[in-house]
Amino acid sequence: HTYDVLVIGSANADLTVRVDRRPNPGETVPGTDLVESAGGKGANQAAAAARLGARTALLARVGDDPFGQLLLEAQHAAGTELRHVLVEKGARTGTAMIVVGPDGDNTIVVSPGANARLSPADVRAAREVVAASAVVSLQLEISLETVRAAVKTATESGARIVLNPSPTPKTLDTDLLTAANPLVVNEHEAELLSGLPDGTPTDQAKALRERGARSVVITLGGEGALILDTEAAQPTQIPGVPVEVIDTTGAGDAFTGALALRLARGATLEEAARFAVRVGAASVTRPGAQPSYPTAEELA
Ligand code: RIB
Ligand code: NA
Repeated sequence: HTYDVLVIGSANADLTVRVDRRPNPGETVPGTDLVESAGGKGANQAAAAARLGARTALLARVGDDPFGQLLLEAQHAAGTELRHVLVEKGARTGTAMIVVGPDGDNTIVVSPGANARLSPADVRAAREVVAASAVVSLQLEISLETVRAAVKTATESGARIVLNPSPTPKTLDTDLLTAANPLVVNEHEAELLSGLPDGTPTDQAKALRERGARSVVITLGGEGALILDTEAAQPTQIPGVPVEVIDTTGAGDAFTGALALRLARGATLEEAARFAVRVGAASVTRPGAQPSYPTAEELA
């Protein structure tokens, strides 16, 4: 394979303000200075993998505005192949309005912009890069039709599909679920998609595999992750790495990009998840999404 990881997904400019306390509806609170940085679940996964040394390509759409330029520069610096990042004339780059609270937790509103125009035809036109990639990593910040086209093309080419169904729909199509190897979800997404809102992560992982996912990873924040591989009778708990939490934005994307890299290089799901937990933990110790992602040297 020419590429370890091909990410097909979103790219957003992240506009972040930190607050001491969140406003109630109708209330105004002061925040810190605005920070503009590179984000978007797809672009984040690509940057995470590329910074760790993966041969990475990104299929995405941005506008021909300053935010698009910011995203292209960030991917270039990370080492991502940019030939498939389509710059659309007159379109606005996707933008995320992020508020980070005192505990480093965040709330995000995304304006999709050019991301909404990434189409099944774009995926078909990139068939060659899909065929040249060991792992295709997907999220749900682009249109569902485009994700479906990506699943179809990746399946035809024999690529392994990593799917992070985020933002999470109430139900996930069977064709997407059954392609996921693994399905990567956080605790909230596991509750929604497993149909077991009050279940334990173990029960939820088993339910998600029963519903069709080939393997399952549930990320547990500071507690690490729980994995359930294809043939495993029971899940394995991967312990967390204790760190000082500054900003959790994009930690799941760092985890998933790192996981995809290791899977592409032939690691088991457990080995890949142990590595990914360390990468996710490193990312929360610094502000922002992509600017916080470690290189292999920093991680060591
Ligand atoms: O997962 C974090 C990302 O979600 C942010 O970078 C933001 O752009 C939104 O897409
Ligand atoms: Na971070």
